[in-house]
Amino acid sequence: MIDILIIGAGPSGLCAAKTFLQHNPTSNIVILDSHSTVGGVWSKERLYPTLRTNNLYPTMDFSDFPMKDVGIGRPGHHITGEEMHAYLTAYAHHFDLMKRIRFNTRAVRVHQVQEEVTLNSDASCWKVEVEVDVHELGNPTTTVTLETNKLVMATGILGVPNMPSLKGSETFDAPLLHSSALGPRYQDVLQNPHINRVAVLGGSKSAYDTVYLAATTAHKVDWIIRKSGRGPSWVFPSHTKIGPFKAWREKLVTRRIFTFMSPCVLPDHSGKHISWIRDFLHTNKVGKAITKSFWKILHADTIRDCRYREGKDNKNFGVLEPEHSPFWYGTSSGTLNYEQDFKALVTSGQVTIHRQDISHLSPHAIHFLAADDAGKETLAVDALICATGYAATPPVDFFPPELHFQLGIPTTLDSLSDEEKAIWATYDQEADDLITKQFPQLIPLPPPPKSKSKESQDTKTYTPWRLHRGIAPPGPPTLTTARSIVFLSMHSNITNIPRIELQCLWSLAYFHDKLIKVSNSQVHKDTALFQRWCQLRSPLGHGRQYPDLNFDQLPYWDWLVADLGLKVRRKKSVWKELVSPYGSEDYRGLVEEWIEKYGIHKGEGSEQERREGEKRL
Ligand SMILES: Cc1cc2nc3c(=O)[nH]c(=O)nc-3n(C[C@H](O)[C@H](O)[C@H](O)COP(=O)(O)OP(=O)(O)OC[C@H]3O[C@@H](n4cnc5c(N)ncnc54)[C@H](O)[C@@H]3O)c2cc1C
Ligand SMILES: NC(=O)c1ccc[n+]([C@@H]2O[C@H](COP(=O)([O-])OP(=O)(O)OC[C@H]3O[C@@H](n4cnc5c(N)ncnc54)[C@H](OP(=O)(O)O)[C@@H]3O)[C@@H](O)[C@H]2O)c1
Repeated sequence: MIDILIIGAGPSGLCAAKTFLQHNPTSNIVILDSHSTVGGVWSKERLYPTLRTNNLYPTMDFSDFPMKDVGIGRPGHHITGEEMHAYLTAYAHHFDLMKRIRFNTRAVRVHQVQEEVTLNSDASCWKVEVEVDVHELGNPTTTVTLETNKLVMATGILGVPNMPSLKGSETFDAPLLHSSALGPRYQDVLQNPHINRVAVLGGSKSAYDTVYLAATTAHKVDWIIRKSGRGPSWVFPSHTKIGPFKAWREKLVTRRIFTFMSPCVLPDHSGKHISWIRDFLHTNKVGKAITKSFWKILHADTIRDCRYREGKDNKNFGVLEPEHSPFWYGTSSGTLNYEQDFKALVTSGQVTIHRQDISHLSPHAIHFLAADDAGKETLAVDALICATGYAATPPVDFFPPELHFQLGIPTTLDSLSDEEKAIWATYDQEADDLITKQFPQLIPLPPPPKSKSKESQDTKTYTPWRLHRGIAPPGPPTLTTARSIVFLSMHSNITNIPRIELQCLWSLAYFHDKLIKVSNSQVHKDTALFQRWCQLRSPLGHGRQYPDLNFDQLPYWDWLVADLGLKVRRKKSVWKELVSPYGSEDYRGLVEEWIEKYGIHKGEGSEQERREGEKRL
């Protein structure tokens, strides 16, 4: 039997394995991945030529494995897809993880083993049906069942493409693909001499990347952003200017002083010297005015940075200006991480933007519901690439289906019993009441897209992820001692790596019941409050489905560190705590700190140690 089975060898799965092995180097850990290389989104097979990180070097470093140590990346540059892949491969070698990974192996079904299992038992809790030797083409050769005591779902939130079902697609007779296939299909679509005119559907970062890639490979591009949806997202330069100061956006949002600007319901662990600032900014009349101005200035600055309203060409480019303030978009946004000027490319005449819904497809043609602003009703194209995002559902079947409710996995409303619906409805209402009282500006939700029409209701509605601390089930496994499953990275953040590291350590502590105790009813209350607030905080991002945190990342990290009973505030002075940005480097050595505090091998720390941890907070 396997001690810990990790599904996914992306950044989350690799970091989880490394963290668990640090704690117990002899544990039998197996990692599965359906790809043939490590990296997940950054695996060799998913890379496309212009893929780069939104982040600037060195913010994608794990705290204990700096990119510079392996000669990857350059200061001030976006990291290329190839570099990310090389870095994660080096990480897997460095921590001796390669021998534990079974590539080309896909988990298809997870069953719960019915017996009651206690915390430190070696019995199996989960059976996982696995297809071995999975390749892009062809069928898997074998199916086997693996048994494990602990299961770590590190399958990523961006693995199940949301491919729209467009009427007439079977008659299209030209390449029709999702942006997640840009890597494997690059040669046969964008290097194909018969493909000259490419249509791209979607208005967010993958659409920007696809438009850029198609236009820079000499294609004429028809970029379709549906009228009935949320419209284009914010995609801005990595730096902005606030007054006389040039600010690196990614670092701006992890400076405590700026996190205070966000209406955040997470506990405030910023310490007595500065925590009054958050209260002041959200309860005092002057404070509220400052906060309001901050968001107004940021909105105006972002419009300026993106040059939507600048120059003669802005009629074509101005269409890309999002309909609402960046305040509401979470990470449904991105950075202009391109070598060529994106605006110049769009305004060169090579790219035409259409704000219209697609009615149907016919051979080599896209038909709109109505004429677009330029009077076009039909486009003749050679390929259609749907950059339409991802379904937030897990890529694995959980059996029996009731597990969806217990584990907090998205499910369709009609698959829940009335009793199950009522349970969350009550907690959700309680959460909404709390949020309304504290931050009335977040309700009603969401600010409606200006051009909303009934066609936008086409997507199947799933319940959101409902995980305790965004990681563990809110149902029985959390409430009993059988803590046997976690879900890593069912989140989206602007700075993902520190969050991944903290979630991995939190999971280790959770498996060993070494977190600060929370009562059963509090688990449900906290889960509902976190989920409802995420939904209200970034309704135009991914908050409807899972935590999508931007300005609120640091309070989330604090929350996890506090649960671990470790030191939350990691800067050397109050001033630094207030203004200096947080990143992975601030959590360097945290796993060792935790191991020292709680003991090694199966984490047999004493009750007294845990109480000490509680007191320190
Ligand atoms: C195009 C693109 C660009 C991005 N750019 C950035 C960026 O610049 N900065 C940033 O911070 N984030 C970015 N992200 C977000 C990205 O999700 C994270 O950077 C990071 O990859 C998340 O790591 P993960 O391990 O949680 O998930 P993933 O990287 O998605 O890895 C999940 C792994 O699980 C495997 N898997 C899934 N299902 C199964 C199964 N059933 N059986 C076996 N294996 C399975 C997959 O093959 C994959 O290897 C980007 C995402 C995309 C799609
Ligand atoms: N490093 C990078 O450069 C990079 C590159 C790509 C992606 N990413 C990251 O990956 C994550 C996912 O980005 P994403 O752009 O793939 O997904 P996304 O942010 O979810 O955006 C999906 C887009 O498709 C539209 N859409 C969805 N369903 C549609 C339908 N049926 N018909 C037409 N349009 C539809 C959505 O708008 P409406 O539903 O409102 O119409 C939205 O504009 C983001 O966090 C992003 O930052 C990063």
